[in-house]
Amino acid sequence: MGTDQLDNRHWHNIVVLTGAGISAESGLGTFRGAGGLWEQQRVEDVATPEAFARDPDLVYRFYNARREQLCGGDIQPNTAHYALAELETLFTGNFALVTQNVDDLHERAGSRHLFHMHGELMKMRCAASGNVFEAPVYFDGNDHCRCCRRAGQLRPHVVWFGEMPIYMDEIYALLADCDLFVAIGTSGNVYPAAGFVQIARQAGATTLEINPEMTDGSSLFGFQWRGPASEQVPRLRDLLAASG
Ligand code: OAD
Repeated sequence: MGTDQLDNRHWHNIVVLTGAGISAESGLGTFRGAGGLWEQQRVEDVATPEAFARDPDLVYRFYNARREQLCGGDIQPNTAHYALAELETLFTGNFALVTQNVDDLHERAGSRHLFHMHGELMKMRCAASGNVFEAPVYFDGNDHCRCCRRAGQLRPHVVWFGEMPIYMDEIYALLADCDLFVAIGTSGNVYPAAGFVQIARQAGATTLEINPEMTDGSSLFGFQWRGPASEQVPRLRDLLAASG
């Protein structure tokens, strides 16, 4: 079987998984690889519950800086984000977008049926009640929570290492039912997202990886389109819009 020519059949249930690579062309750095975020900042210092307990100010500053960058005006959705939103509109079957990204570029581009499995940078959560609120660009331990009225309860609504991703029941149900699974711009290093391709395969789905590089999981995909998301996602939109 060739790994490039996806057959032109009628799909019913599509699940797309995105990772940091889809936002790379918007100017947001990826996590791994040369110059990646985790090369500049140790995961253990800013992205674990232990880090937040040990040094909350450092963790607040890290996420404040990321929010500042996201809202600064320079970062906008790119062709790939828009192509996925258009695909969702054009496709006549069921379409779901699962993202590991905490940025809001998919929703800014117009995606609707969207699951932020690793949380959202522009939201904050009360550690006591679990209530989720829209986040301002800057907040820290001095801010009072809207529900419990106490300072020091608000944390970024992002999933840290060692925590359970969000929406997993919904996502597993979608995967069990999908006939096409597409992973875009993710290195396949972090579970459970890295295991979605196997669940989709077990469901009998066709699987496609879009990434300029080979990844550790590439061999699990039936089809591989090598190239930047801005090139390959419009190609996917055109193919699926024609088929469905
Ligand atoms: P990574 O940084 O691990 O991988 C980014 C992927 O994007 C790589 O495979 C690149 O080859 C690819 N890539 C780069 N430029 C691209 C482009 N223009 N078009 C398409 N792909 C491109 O990021 P993720 O796989 O998203 O979790 O990382 C997964 C999780 O690890 C993140 O959600 C985050 C991180 O630690 C948490 O913080 C919980």
